[in-house]
Amino acid sequence: MKKRIVVALTGASGLKLGDYFLRKVAENSEFFEKVFVIVSDNAKLVADAENFSFDFSYFPENFVLLNQNDFSAPVASGSYPFEGMVVIPCSMSSLASMASGVGTNLIHRVADVCLKEGRKLIVVPRETPFSLVHIENMRKLALSGGRIVPFIPSFYNNPSGIEDMLDFFCIRIFDLLGVEIKDERRWRIDE
Ligand SMILES: Cc1cc2nc3c(=O)[nH]c(=O)nc-3n(C[C@H](O)[C@H](O)[C@H](O)COP(=O)(O)O)c2cc1C
Repeated sequence: MKKRIVVALTGASGLKLGDYFLRKVAENSEFFEKVFVIVSDNAKLVADAENFSFDFSYFPENFVLLNQNDFSAPVASGSYPFEGMVVIPCSMSSLASMASGVGTNLIHRVADVCLKEGRKLIVVPRETPFSLVHIENMRKLALSGGRIVPFIPSFYNNPSGIEDMLDFFCIRIFDLLGVEIKDERRWRIDE
């Protein structure tokens, strides 16, 4: 069955990773009924600072761009059925909000919905090093049902470069969403 998902990009370094993931979702849009995209206001500031410009012209028809302050969006309510949310990249500030249940924007609210409804919440944190506060927040989120999925490239698939690493990582997120994409780089897939 096609899935409805939310993809949120927050103000952490490496927005290219979130953009790459969105492009991968768009490439595989036949698996998704609807993809709600939320870009936090701070993500836009970080993008400016990192000379990264968002271009959503490739979005297929089933993609919906939401404002971070739009609490009346369908996904702000648990009664609207959707699979879950991927927060990529996730700032420590958004992580803290989600771990504490303080919903000051739509991203935090959707996280709250995912946790209360037992839906998928996949968080790709971006900071280094992590303080104990960050680790405690990740622990709390993991105990509440969230999945903490830092971008840690794998090498067993012999990546040809950064793009290949990003691609393989995105496919692991697809796995967590329950969307299995054929990929010959999977470990021992041909045996
Ligand atoms: C250039 C730049 C890079 C940043 N990188 C990070 C980062 O990697 N991780 C992080 O937690 N915060 C980072 N920040 C700080 C966040 O943007 C800030 O905490 C903000 O409140 C996050 O808001 P949001 O989670 O609502 O998007 C960065 C800020 C700037 C300007």
